[in-house]
Amino acid sequence: MSERYARITGWGKYVPERVVTNDDLAKIVDTSDEWIRSRTGIRERRLRGDDDTTSSMGAAAGREALASAGLHPADLDLIIVASSSPDYLLPSVASQIQHLLGASCGAFTLVAGCAGWVYALATASQFITAGTYNRVLVIGVEIISFALDWTDRTTCVLFGDAAAATVVEASEVPGGVMAVELGSKGSGAHSLYVPDGGSTSPITQRTVDERRQYLRMNGQEVFKFAVRTPASSLKRTVYQAGLTPDEIDLYIPHQANKRIIETASRQLRVPLDKFYINIDRYGNTSAASVPLAMVEAIEEGRLKDVDLVAMCAFGAGLTWATVVMQMGAGEISAAYSLFSVARARFLARRASDVVLDTAQGALLPLYTRIYGLRKRL
Ligand code: ACO
Repeated sequence: MSERYARITGWGKYVPERVVTNDDLAKIVDTSDEWIRSRTGIRERRLRGDDDTTSSMGAAAGREALASAGLHPADLDLIIVASSSPDYLLPSVASQIQHLLGASCGAFTLVAGCAGWVYALATASQFITAGTYNRVLVIGVEIISFALDWTDRTTCVLFGDAAAATVVEASEVPGGVMAVELGSKGSGAHSLYVPDGGSTSPITQRTVDERRQYLRMNGQEVFKFAVRTPASSLKRTVYQAGLTPDEIDLYIPHQANKRIIETASRQLRVPLDKFYINIDRYGNTSAASVPLAMVEAIEEGRLKDVDLVAMCAFGAGLTWATVVMQMGAGEISAAYSLFSVARARFLARRASDVVLDTAQGALLPLYTRIYGLRKRL
């Protein structure tokens, strides 16, 4: 069997309509546009509308990604959703997104904080290069605003809600994901966490009294981690891909703080204009941050076919993840194409299942009546 490569063939995003500026926040907490802009680079963020849920936003981004790849939900082999703000603690939001999309493949949620989508992309590429699957939808989605303490100015000004998705497909043309690094430093768990609501600290009256259901962050600890680890991870992963930092066409960093991105640019000795930045418009959208930046970079023509891209994110865990890849779908081999025998077999099986389900549904009342009659006799 020939070599398989994991390439991005479709992308999409969903951002809520509601724009909240720094001045809007200055009306509810003791902050200012000047402080937020100079310390973080954020000007405004999007917050969920009344009808937005994590699953509806993830499905909207997924639909757009499928359309841009020219695929139908039935073509998917797997859906991976990166999120720390699911609709419910249980079940997995990935299953709800799978249902909303009308797909019939497996689906699971991956939790790695803001690094989640990059972790998920790395996971998808493994399923593809191993030959297990041909088409994987990878979604990053967060309604992080629900977990924020809107009286805490040290956290509530930093985040925003969003969703973005990519389709990853098998290809025989070299390119796609070239190198990956996944990292975790669990000793930093309490630098960024939600104290109550998990199995060690179920919700009690104390939770509500002390606002322990909301995200807490030691900003300076996370900042120290963020200016050391991502840049060194980027460097290692770029070399692992057989490249040097200056050969990368575009860096897509996690949009947590513009100062962290500027530090990474200095550490890598790569000009800042090679780093894609949209934190000014969205703030930190956690697991949606890197895919949202990627989608916008493509839409703006900053990321083109054959471009080399390095993406890196870090977050709660503490975690980090880096992927270096070459853009461009290449030619999707006939073996993986939509007209494959496997797809035809799948569609035939699904059609026969529908016919059987309908027949059973129609016959059930008749059967129940006959069974009742027999019992009476
Ligand atoms: N408005 C005005 N003043 C503020 C605000 C605010 N919104 N927030 C904090 N301050 C005050 C502080 O109270 C402090 O006042 P004091 O000196 O009187 O005590 C002062 O500003 C300085 O506070 P610092 O914490 O030292 O500010 P710093 O320059 O470190 O910036 C920030 C804080 C932006 C949070 C920074 O530490 C940071 O970006 N950290 C990384 C955060 C991050 O990336 N988190 C996301 C991780 S990803 C994930 O998984 C969710």
